[in-house]
Amino acid sequence: MTTLRNDLLLRTLRGEKTERPPVWMMRQAGRYLPDYMKLKEKYTFFERCQTPELATEITIQPVEQVGVDAAIIFSDILVVPQAMGMEVQMVEGKGPFLPDPIKKAGDLNKLVVPDVEERLGYVFDALRLTKKTLDGRVPLIGFAGSPWTLLCYMVQGKGSKTFDEAKAFCYTQPETAHRLLQLITDTTIAYLKGQVRAGADVVQIFDSWGGLLGPDDFEILSLQYIRQIVAAVKDEVLTIIFAKGAWQSLDAMAATGAHGLGIDWCIKASTARQLAGPHIALQGNYDPAKLLGPIPVIKKEVKAMLDAFKGYPHIANLGHGILPDVPVDHAKAFVETVKEYKF
Ligand code: CP3
Repeated sequence: MTTLRNDLLLRTLRGEKTERPPVWMMRQAGRYLPDYMKLKEKYTFFERCQTPELATEITIQPVEQVGVDAAIIFSDILVVPQAMGMEVQMVEGKGPFLPDPIKKAGDLNKLVVPDVEERLGYVFDALRLTKKTLDGRVPLIGFAGSPWTLLCYMVQGKGSKTFDEAKAFCYTQPETAHRLLQLITDTTIAYLKGQVRAGADVVQIFDSWGGLLGPDDFEILSLQYIRQIVAAVKDEVLTIIFAKGAWQSLDAMAATGAHGLGIDWCIKASTARQLAGPHIALQGNYDPAKLLGPIPVIKKEVKAMLDAFKGYPHIANLGHGILPDVPVDHAKAFVETVKEYKF
């Protein structure tokens, strides 16, 4: 096995001392990069995901062009519902569309807990090829959506600001909702274990819609399933939970035994640290929209952010995915400011 030349992310997640915080950006492989746009013209979204050579090329672009300290495999959280038997379309300018969403108990008969090697083997192939191509430059992050966030898309059938149809499904048919959440959980555990076998050094669970739930419902509909996933993989791989907007449950998330917690920009570093305790790594939390502002302001604010998290394990990142219209220079300024920082 090749040894990693840059293991800042891994050391930070293990709670070890480092010279500076590691830095990467959620959704770092994507539309703000001109080279990504060139591949987007030639291949559909799922062709890019399913062709290991393309996924590898896209995954490595931000490592080479922006200088991040970690790669995250190019894929999508919705490959899991697809592997479970649902049709998923990626509509240009609109986002995901699932034409035949889950609405009632009988609809679960359409779903399977798949053989992940058979249905998602292309992700594992992409991870293996990326790992080989990275050749120890930086660690490789694998990922999956949380069961709650995947349920949101599987029931609503498309993106939404409120996911009210998904919520109504959970509150009117709780038994069916929990059966669905468990099917997704079982698939996700097998999927993440496959990612680890294929070489992922870290896995992140994206609970993009966790913040739509109050603390009690977050536990019932989201965290209890994330907890099962973390328990199943945490002894094999470093794990990060990112439940956007669910900061009120940081203490409960820390208690899962995950190694890192992602936070968005709506919580202060000191408050997050108080809730999460001193040991777990915190990841975040620059407002991605602020990368549209002037570079000198970005530099000043990113330094202030690093100061605010200093003294405890911190992974510099955005508080959500990078926006498509961010100039590459601004993304670089974000990354370079972290790389110039010294503890
Ligand atoms: O972070 C990375 O660079 C790895 C790639 C990655 C993608 N999606 C590629 C993608 C990751 C980690 C995701 C996760 C994802 N996908 C999430 C969780 C993170 C978050 O942003 O909250 C969610 C909710 C999705 C579902 C999804 N996929 C949506 C809502 C959309 C359309 C809107 C959008 O953000 O573009 C996608 C499409 C998608 N997934 C694109 C990319 C690069 C854009 C489509 C394209 O370039 O053709």
